[in-house]
Amino acid sequence: MIIVPGIASINLSKKLAKIMNAKIANLEYKIFPDGESYIRIVDDVKDDVVIVNSTYPNQDKRLIELFLLIDNLKDLGAKKIKVVVPYIAYARQDMRFREGEVISINTILKLIEKIGADEFITIDIHKEHSLNTIKIKAKNLNAIEVIADYLKNISFNEPYVLAPDKGALERAKKLGEIMKCEYGYFEKYRDRISGAIRIEGIDIDFKDRDVIIVDDVISTGGTIANTAKIVKEKGAKRIIAICTHALLIKDALEKMKNAGVDEIISTDTVENEFSKITVAPLIARELC
Ligand code: R5P
Repeated sequence: MIIVPGIASINLSKKLAKIMNAKIANLEYKIFPDGESYIRIVDDVKDDVVIVNSTYPNQDKRLIELFLLIDNLKDLGAKKIKVVVPYIAYARQDMRFREGEVISINTILKLIEKIGADEFITIDIHKEHSLNTIKIKAKNLNAIEVIADYLKNISFNEPYVLAPDKGALERAKKLGEIMKCEYGYFEKYRDRISGAIRIEGIDIDFKDRDVIIVDDVISTGGTIANTAKIVKEKGAKRIIAICTHALLIKDALEKMKNAGVDEIISTDTVENEFSKITVAPLIARELC
């Protein structure tokens, strides 16, 4: 098996190759003056291959590079092509919320399948039902165990695991159960046109407690910031925002800090300074 690292997941690919004791393909990569991507696969790839490429912003570019890689590998004689996309972009538009809208994730998944993927693996996709769009084997891995493993080494004062909305409750429940602590959720309302959100808190006294807000994605930071504000008002001592995919768009960090968030922790589905938790063992387990 050969691991083919996409530009967005070079470190994760190396970790994965190390765990699996697999070869990692050498790639030449550059950007042409007009912005188009050039990729050359240097090594022989006539074997089973695993492409690892996340699609965090610039997501359109990462997706094009993913499509180029899949097609090229097929053309170069790769046997079975497993496509690992740790963070799959466009997943939040998973249905027609308003008449006439595109269902973006369906189109993206269809393209991955049609270009030549034999198997698709992702992590904490926004809605798992999206995977039913394609016929190839498709798997969504849950990062909560690697997140819980990481948190085991941190000491908390009367921890409370909080989901900022009902959609994240399952995640908070699992984490709360593993950490053997209380968990719950807030209600979030989003204006489908403006994107503005409103959060309503539950009646819990967070006084002097450490609150771990857990979500799948932190994008603009609005959800976490609005949640943290309420938690802070209710007397929380320390607020930790933890997520699988930390996109951190524009002033997300500042927004969360100003709302009282003390620490941000994420996995390396999006590689940045906060991605302290690796999902490599999770992917390796699935591939073995
Ligand atoms: C939405 O349902 C997701 O689970 C996240 O809560 C959301 O995408 C976070 O976005 P933002 O950081 O922009 O509020």
